[in-house]
Amino acid sequence: MIPIEVSNLKKNYGSLKAVDDTSFQVNNGEVFALLGPNGAGKTTTIEILEGLRERDGGDVKVLGLDPWKNGYELHQKIGVIPQEFNFIEKITPREAIIYYADLFNIKVNPDEILKEVLLEESTKTNFDNLSGGQKQKMGLALSLVNSPELLFLDEPTTGLDPNARRAIWDVIRGFKAKGKTIILTTHYLDEAQQLSDRVAIMDHGKIVAMGTSDEIIEQYGSGERLEIRGSEELARYIKANTELHVDYDGSRGIISMPIKQKNDALAGLAAAEKSKMEWSDITTRRDSLDDVFVRLVSRKLSEHGEILDEHEPKEEIKDV
Ligand SMILES: Nc1ncnc2c1ncn2[C@@H]1O[C@H](COP(=O)(O)OP(=O)(O)OP(=O)(O)O)[C@@H](O)[C@H]1O
Ligand SMILES: [Mg+2]
Repeated sequence: MIPIEVSNLKKNYGSLKAVDDTSFQVNNGEVFALLGPNGAGKTTTIEILEGLRERDGGDVKVLGLDPWKNGYELHQKIGVIPQEFNFIEKITPREAIIYYADLFNIKVNPDEILKEVLLEESTKTNFDNLSGGQKQKMGLALSLVNSPELLFLDEPTTGLDPNARRAIWDVIRGFKAKGKTIILTTHYLDEAQQLSDRVAIMDHGKIVAMGTSDEIIEQYGSGERLEIRGSEELARYIKANTELHVDYDGSRGIISMPIKQKNDALAGLAAAEKSKMEWSDITTRRDSLDDVFVRLVSRKLSEHGEILDEHEPKEEIKDV
């Protein structure tokens, strides 16, 4: 059975199309990341899949069930941590697990779960005294109480320091190694690239790109480029004296040319040298998922996902 099948999903808030005719599926044992700027529709999509919000159109099957109609049955089978996970303040992770197990009317071994989420060290600390990373680990622990095969993790690492994020990655990798299927959202594209088998980039309720990170970079990236530091005059000189396409980024003083074969790089460097103009800093680079994301959604995001810049960031880069 395909764990998640979504076709032509729609959700409106008044005239706002929060999810706009979106289709995708998540396969067994896969880590699938939903990416996109603030307000793209990620949480709305996830919460429809969890049976917490009603859809306005389209078909959704989660573990073969309609999440809105069969919510009770579905909730026994899935694990969830909501965006901005919070819990009763005066309760320890161990107590919380036992409390959750009672709600599900099942018996669990709290120590085993705490071990699985790498939270053995602070089992006796109250929730409000846990660090951000430990709180998230407790969220992950609770999502495991009913032994789900399918997990929904909405921004599991937002606001965590780099080490705490890596610890959560280890936990998620452990889930995957056990064959669980995971759908997660994140604003950290390196995280998506590290953890997920496939990603979907959402913007204004629509999926604008989907595939493995490599496929998306291949499809929407600009391939490998040679970059050197130099003047716009030099950029023009290289363009006039080679067959290469040459761009100039005035704000960084960087001349950039795509290299389709080894000879392109040699030709670019030979022309730079022949010009007798000043140049330095040879690098080659390939677009990251981050570069492609920024191009696709054309909004620059801060580390925490706030929109910093509504402009196409490539504007100052020009053909010479
Ligand atoms: N209950 C609601 N009532 C009205 N509008 C809503 C409601 N929930 C979400 N929206 C709107 O729907 C859009 C999508 O919101 P959603 O929370 O799904 O985005 P998101 O991709 O999860 O964003 P973020 O990265 O900030 O978490 C936003 O414009 C939001 O304001
Ligand atoms: Mg969200």
